[in-house]
Amino acid sequence: MKSRVIQATWFEYDRYGDADVLVERSEALPPPGEGEVTVEVITTSLNHMEAFLRNGKESTWSDDPWPRRSGSDFAGIVVATGPGSRLPLRSQVIGHVRTGAHASHLNVSESALVLKPPSVMWEVAGALYLAGVTALDTLEQLRIGQGDTIVVSAAAGGVGSIETQLAKHRGARVIGTCGDRNFDYLRQLGIIPVRYGDGMADRIRRVAEGPVTAFIDNFGKDGRDLAEDLGVPESRYRSSADRRDVELSLLQDDPDSVEHGTTQLARLAELARAGAFRLLISGLYPLNDIVEAYDDLAHLHSRGKVVLATKPATTYRTVKAREIHEAMTGGYVA
Ligand SMILES: NC(=O)c1ccc[n+]([C@@H]2O[C@H](COP(=O)([O-])OP(=O)(O)OC[C@H]3O[C@@H](n4cnc5c(N)ncnc54)[C@H](OP(=O)(O)O)[C@@H]3O)[C@@H](O)[C@H]2O)c1
Repeated sequence: MKSRVIQATWFEYDRYGDADVLVERSEALPPPGEGEVTVEVITTSLNHMEAFLRNGKESTWSDDPWPRRSGSDFAGIVVATGPGSRLPLRSQVIGHVRTGAHASHLNVSESALVLKPPSVMWEVAGALYLAGVTALDTLEQLRIGQGDTIVVSAAAGGVGSIETQLAKHRGARVIGTCGDRNFDYLRQLGIIPVRYGDGMADRIRRVAEGPVTAFIDNFGKDGRDLAEDLGVPESRYRSSADRRDVELSLLQDDPDSVEHGTTQLARLAELARAGAFRLLISGLYPLNDIVEAYDDLAHLHSRGKVVLATKPATTYRTVKAREIHEAMTGGYVA
């Protein structure tokens, strides 16, 4: 098919720093190559790992050339196809890239795409990859299933909210640590909420009704001591550092890693379609408000995912339920 010239915009950075080092750049996109398609991005999400790579806290990719692009999850529409590609034009897809998803358009190999189930909303679809596949990989590594009682920290966050729901879907009894504001939310999902902070081990024991058999520490504070105190076997404990390794491997762009990521993304999309989990959108920002969106993420009180949209229905700022709660209780207000 003859491709028209597409002017793409994207966010990238020329040095380490906070989100305000991100700059918007624009260029005509070359036509998609062999086995590639051009995707017009509708939604893309934010992950802490991208912030760590940008601010230098994560040094794994320190040899990458500058400038460096941002973003790994996206959902969008196929608007051009390269030689040998099989996806029809206008296919609605969910995908992943090592970096560069915070963009209006991108060229991507078909091997990194799955079809978006029509019932999965764009906001959710564009937020699925890194958080969702991290959750799925971690639960599979731990072989979570019936008979397990699992504790998940930061249970209402992007990764934790998927992890807890999928653990429950696999038959486990699930305890999630969170702040007071998220008790009702977790209870609605059938997750047992426990407040984080001093005395947490006793609070967990009180609700566990038996041994805790697995522990996933997303937050990365005191997790190992707590897991040990609860008698969780070392082999069934996943630290925040383990999560880092899972995330970095999901961002690799060698063929085996991409294939694994895409296979898991397809399973996740099907689980979302089937209602095995529901992903809340903690904040939906226009792509151009990326700095504000990262600031929201950095406050560490997301309920679900922070998402960017290239075509938001409105550019008015959306008040989040948690802000109403916090304004009433005197907590953080964005
Ligand atoms: N080691 C790594 O490489 C690595 C990689 C990615 C992420 N992380 C960390 O993992 C955490 C969760 O990741 P995410 O992607 O799910 O982020 P997220 O969506 O930003 O997580 C936000 C959640 O963290 C919870 N939280 C805040 N303070 C907490 C505390 N002291 N103890 C337990 N939970 C707390 C919040 O609960 P409430 O709102 O209920 O307070 C909120 O629901 C983040 O802190 C992130 O920095 C580590």
